[in-house]
Order: sequence, then structure tokens, then C-alpha cells
Amino acid sequence: MNEFSFEEIRSDAPLYSALTQYVQKNCSSFHTPGHKGQCGFLPLSSKLDLTELPETDSLFECTGCIRQSEERAAELFGAKYTALSSGGCTLAIQGMLAAFAGAGSKVIFSRNIHRSAVNTAMLLDLQPVWIMHRKDCGPGLPGRIFPEDVRKALAAHPDAAAVYITSPDYYGCMSDISGISAVCGEFGLPLLVDNAHGTHLIAFGKHPITLGAAASACSAHKTLPVLTGGAWLNCNDESAAERIKSSMALFGSTSPSYLTMVSLDLARAWMASQGQSAFVRLSRTVSELRRLAAEIGFVLPCGECDPVRLTLLTHSLGVTGEEAAAYFRSCGAECEHSDAAAVVFILTPFNTESDIDCLKRAIERFPVNHPEMTCADGEAYYLPEQAMSPGEVLFRRRTSVPLKNAAGRIAAEAACPCPPGVPVVMPGEIIDEKCVNILLKTGIQRINVIE
Ligand SMILES: Cc1ncc(COP(=O)(O)O)c(C=O)c1O
Repeated sequence: MNEFSFEEIRSDAPLYSALTQYVQKNCSSFHTPGHKGQCGFLPLSSKLDLTELPETDSLFECTGCIRQSEERAAELFGAKYTALSSGGCTLAIQGMLAAFAGAGSKVIFSRNIHRSAVNTAMLLDLQPVWIMHRKDCGPGLPGRIFPEDVRKALAAHPDAAAVYITSPDYYGCMSDISGISAVCGEFGLPLLVDNAHGTHLIAFGKHPITLGAAASACSAHKTLPVLTGGAWLNCNDESAAERIKSSMALFGSTSPSYLTMVSLDLARAWMASQGQSAFVRLSRTVSELRRLAAEIGFVLPCGECDPVRLTLLTHSLGVTGEEAAAYFRSCGAECEHSDAAAVVFILTPFNTESDIDCLKRAIERFPVNHPEMTCADGEAYYLPEQAMSPGEVLFRRRTSVPLKNAAGRIAAEAACPCPPGVPVVMPGEIIDEKCVNILLKTGIQRINVIE
């Protein structure tokens, strides 16, 4: 090894250089991953970056230590069966839809689904039926899915195979999972929840599995001390185990990262011992930050929200979420997300006191001298006409066209004013004039359409 000059190697590595330079800025991290680079038990040696060996088990055919780790995770979440993923929540979502809905089936989807679910709908040729959100969280936020809307969709589509919703959303707004599970139960259908942002909700008794969902995909790396790519797929049905493994194997790499899987194993052990009380303590800190922010004049999302997600609506203070994020950045606090309406901070127990002080000071000193703005709350949600299924789109040639010329064309992709929001058009839907106008206002210039 000594014949190599590390300096020479590092100086020729642009990604490494960018990351180390960013770390040297010493920003307070209010974004993913949840370990914040500060987790004492996480520094894992590259010696543990192993492969399938007689002692180390094999993810998609596990019977040994990986299976044991999954069993303990199932115990933590009160699930009947849990599978590890080192392919992020994306792999858990792919596995969940393949195992519980199945290729070619009709699925009732909430409209604010993540790209990973849209792509899975294309890959599995799912036939989507959309449920719209009711804007009940605050200006500019997508809003929640209501049980009575799920009931209506199920009554109108007795041939549906599953219901799939996202909760909490990026902004921390939570739908009524107990109510929606009860409705799904009446119709004998599984409720599948994209719980990417809510793995830690187990600490508050609000995890979808606790509230009756059939399955939930949990992006552990977003809020727990887990390396990027670590996720769990939890389910309430032990008999689904084999289907889940084979579905995940269909999409997953044959070389899952042992380091990521080990970090899931450690984070689960931490959650089982100290983690849940650490999240409850953190929720008090977040309540205090919310109180301060409201005093300054920020608006907070209404209704039931993740107790540790800090989302500030900024129009009342005369700025967009993006402008607020730039201000917070200048104070050393890097947020997870910002858009026209809001700035979103992800806090975890691995934020240090100095991180919290930095955010608190920045909130207290927020410049409040701008006249109030009205928030462009977007057009009322509506459903463009569907011309073909997402799966058909996959096999068609596509081309990029200027959005202003796209009316009448069939979308080859989902287009969304800001990616965590509700897509205006989905793959296979006809881009009409109304859709063009909404998207143009959000600054989107081009769109992929079917040739
Ligand atoms: C709502 C939602 N679902 C799913 C995902 C995909 O998760 P992952 O990046 O772990 O694959 C994300 C990622 O941001 C998300 O926000």
C-alpha cells in the first residue's frame, strides 16, 4: 500500500473532493441521512464490507444472521414479517407492490406518490386509480387522503387489488391510517403505505404497522442512524414472506451492501433500547422550535403531523420557502427541502446541541421586514384523461418537447411542480391546456412525451 500517494489519489477524485470540502464547511445537517455523520456506533470498518460467505448469510435467501436481524426488526415494529433492503425504500416499494398487488393489477393510489412508485407502476404494468388529496394542511401543501375518499374509490372499483398511500408526506403531514386501514379491511384489501419519512414513528405509536396497514416501506436512512440505502419492508402477513423476498430479488442488486445492512441491524438495536425515548425527547425540542417559529410569524402545517418534522410555511413572512432556505443556509443550517411555500428540516436525535442552537438562533433572527405574500396554492387538483397505462408507456419511444407545444400529447413521465408534491400529469395521461398552464407557471420548460 505504501507505494501509493493518498494525496495524489484524492486530488484526482472529484466526488471525494466535493464531499470533503462540503464536510469542512461544518454545516448543521437538517437533511438525510438520519445519522448526521455524528452517530457514535456507526463508524463501520471497510473490513465489514463483506459478501455472502458461509457465516454472513445471503439477503434474498436468508436463513442465518440476516434472517435473525429481520426477525428482531419485526419485533421492534410489531410486524409479522420484515425484510431488509440496501436498495433504499425504492426497493421496499417495488417489493411491496409486486408482492401485495401483483403485475397487471388495478391499484388505488394516492396522487402524491414518489417517483419510485410511479416507476414501479410502469415496470409492473399496474392500472392506477387515483385518489386526490384534500388541501387541509396549509397553503401550498398537498394535503391528506381521507378514509371516505378511499371508500368511494373501492366501491367504484371492486376489482382493485390494493390501496397505496404516502403518509407521512415530505412535510410531515400524516393521513388517518387507522381510518383508511379500517375501510380497506371492510373491502378485504391490503393497505400499503409508503412510510419513507416515518420509520421513527414507532416511538410515538404512530407507525403504519401499529395503525393497521398491511405493509409499509420504511426509508430508515432518512430519520434513523442508518447508512444511505438502508430500509425495511414491514408487513402484517407472515405468509407473504416468500413472495416478498422473491419480489425484492427481482428488482434488487445481487450484491446488497453489508455495511448498509449492518447499520440497519445496529439502528434497530438502538431503537429497541434507547432510540424511542431519544425521539420522544427530540419531539419536545421540535415543539419548542415550532413555538418560536410561530411567534416570529411562520405558519405551521395544521392537523396531525410527525412530531419531529419541522416544516415552516413562509409566505406570512413575505418570502418563498427557497428564499428562507437560502437565509438558513447563510446561518449554517442546511435544510432537507424547500419550495415556493415551505422549508423543511429533518431533525434526529443525532443533531448536536450546537445544531439545535444554530437553528434556534436562525429562527429568532429571521428577517421579518417583508410584506406578507399570498401563497400561490396551485390549481385545484384534477385528473387529466388517461390515454394508456403507465406500463404501455414503458415500451413506447419518447421525445422531449417544449411544454408550451405539448398540449394534446401523451406524457411519458410524471410532471410535478415540486417533486414531493402532487404530480399534475402522470405517464400515459394526456397533457391538456390546463396542465400546460399550471406547469408553465412553475417554471417547467420541457416535458417527455410519447413520440
Ligand atoms: C415519499 C418517498 N417515498 C419513497 C422514497 C424513496 O426512498 P429511497 O430514497 O430510500 O429509495 C422517497 C425518497 O425521497 C420519498 O420521499
